[in-house]
Amino acid sequence: MITRNDPCWCGSGQKWKKCHFPLPGPQSRSELAEQYLKKYGIILKSAEQVQGIRQACRLAAQILDKTCKLAKAGMTTNELNAFAHRLHLEAGAIPAPLGYGTPSFPKSICTSLNDVICHGIPNDIPLKEGDILNIDVTCILNGYYGDCSRMVAIGNIDAIKQKVIDVSFESLMRAVALLKPGMMILEIGNAIESFATGQGCSVVNQFVGHGTGIHFHEAPQIPHHYNQIKIPLAPGMTFTIEPMINAGTRDGYVDSKDHWTARTMDGKPSAQWEHTLLITENGHEILTVMD
Ligand code: MF3
Ligand code: CO
Ligand code: CO
Repeated sequence: MITRNDPCWCGSGQKWKKCHFPLPGPQSRSELAEQYLKKYGIILKSAEQVQGIRQACRLAAQILDKTCKLAKAGMTTNELNAFAHRLHLEAGAIPAPLGYGTPSFPKSICTSLNDVICHGIPNDIPLKEGDILNIDVTCILNGYYGDCSRMVAIGNIDAIKQKVIDVSFESLMRAVALLKPGMMILEIGNAIESFATGQGCSVVNQFVGHGTGIHFHEAPQIPHHYNQIKIPLAPGMTFTIEPMINAGTRDGYVDSKDHWTARTMDGKPSAQWEHTLLITENGHEILTVMD
C-alpha cells in the first residue's frame, strides 16, 4: 500500500501527499501515461488493455498448469509442446514463441531441463526420473500477451535441484509481495539477489524480466540482480518477474548451434518461475493465475 509520505508513483520525487494525492484521476492517469512513454518507453495500460491482458494471462496460466501436469518420466518435451500448441489453438490463441526472434524460435513453448537456464527447445528426448524442467508459456489472445513459467520435478530429485526450485520460487514471491506504485525497479533485484545469495545460490544477470502485454517484450527491463534502475512503478504497468537461480556460478552460455538454449557454464542446475504482474493504484495483482 502506498502511504502519504512515500514517493509519488509519477516519478516526480515528491511525496505522494504533495503530488498526485489521493488517487490518480482520469486526467492525471493519461498525463502520466504520456510521461512514462516519453521518458522510459513504458506503456502504461488503459483499463481496457488491462482487461485484455488479464484474459491472455489467465489463459497462459491455464495452459501452463495443464502442460505441467502432463510432464512425467517417459514423456518427451516435443509431446508437451504439441499438447500446449493444441490448447492455444482451441482457445483461439497464438503461442508467442513460435517463429519469434532471430533465428526464429522453432517451437510453441520453452522447455528448460536441469542445467538449461532458459529458452530450451522441445525435443524427442524422454524425461527421466530426477530431471527438473521449466515450462514457459506465452500466449497471444486477442492481440494481448500473457507470459508465465513454472518448474516441474520428474519423480524424486536430489537436494540441490530441490534447492534451486525452492529458492527461485521464493525469490519471485518475495519480489512480488513488495510491488506497489512508487517502488523503484532496483528494489526487485535487491530483494531477489540478497535472498538467493543468502541461500547459497546465484542469480543470472544475462537474462531479465520485461514489460509485456501489448508486445512480447516491452520496456522496462526488470533485472533480478543488483542494479541501479531508478524508475518508480506506476499504476497500469504490466511486466514479468522471472528469476533464474543457479546452484553454482551465475554465468551461462548460449548454444552455438541453435542460438537459443542457455546453459550454466559449470553444468550445475538452474531453476526459474515467472509471473506477469500488474501495478494497481495501491499495490499489485498477479495476472498469470487461473482463478
Ligand atoms: N517466455 C520467455 C520469457 O519469459 C521468452 C521466450 S522467447 C522464445 O521472456 F522465443 F524463446 F520463446
Ligand atoms: Co518473460
Ligand atoms: Co516466459
